[in-house]
Amino acid sequence: MPLIAPSVLTADFLRLGEACKMLNDSEADWFHLDVMDGRFVPNISFGMSIIKQIRTATKKFCDVHLMILEPEKYAEEFAAAGADQLTVHIEACPHLHRNVQQIKSLGMKAGVALNPHTPVFLLKDILHELDTVLLMSVNPGFGAQKFIPHTLEKIKELRGMIDERKLDVRIEIDGGVTLQNAKSIVDAGADVLVAGNTVFASANPIQTIQQLKQL
Ligand code: DX5
Ligand code: ZN
Repeated sequence: MPLIAPSVLTADFLRLGEACKMLNDSEADWFHLDVMDGRFVPNISFGMSIIKQIRTATKKFCDVHLMILEPEKYAEEFAAAGADQLTVHIEACPHLHRNVQQIKSLGMKAGVALNPHTPVFLLKDILHELDTVLLMSVNPGFGAQKFIPHTLEKIKELRGMIDERKLDVRIEIDGGVTLQNAKSIVDAGADVLVAGNTVFASANPIQTIQQLKQL
């Protein structure tokens, strides 16, 4: 059964407390929190102050996805805000090994995210240091985009790399996950499904989360 990580990005921000309560009452495993800086991606979302408030509203695992340049400048603040896992983009980190060590030294789990065009073989010499690899299945920046089918090939390749070396690394898929494609994503080898629009545009988000989990 996959872990389900609803993305709060698509929630109604005037009713964020209600969204947190709904997720707490649901079978959601993680809160997926998307931070965008308007530089690495062409959109700006929210930062540590919102995450700090969400932290007070849930005991669930807070999975913070940084779509920002120079994440090392802010890692300490995200740790203080209550992030359980910090994921940085390989494309934004020329000193990725250093970033990963920093995140772990701050007591958080470490994730690395790959854009749709970035090949998984680039992870070869860092994979054993990671808790999670996040494969973007849309171009990052916005919710409610269409799943890029080639992601399935990347999941299979990465699954092979992880299993061959008997590593304990999770594969997380982010972007365009729906009730229709979730099964094929899990069958390809994914462990964690992020879902924004599918959950928050649903008439019954709690049921949708349950359906995603049990597909
Ligand atoms: C996109 C974000 C995603 C996004 C997913 O840049 O990283 O987490 O919120 O939203 P959906 O599930 O609607 O594609
Ligand atoms: Zn995300």
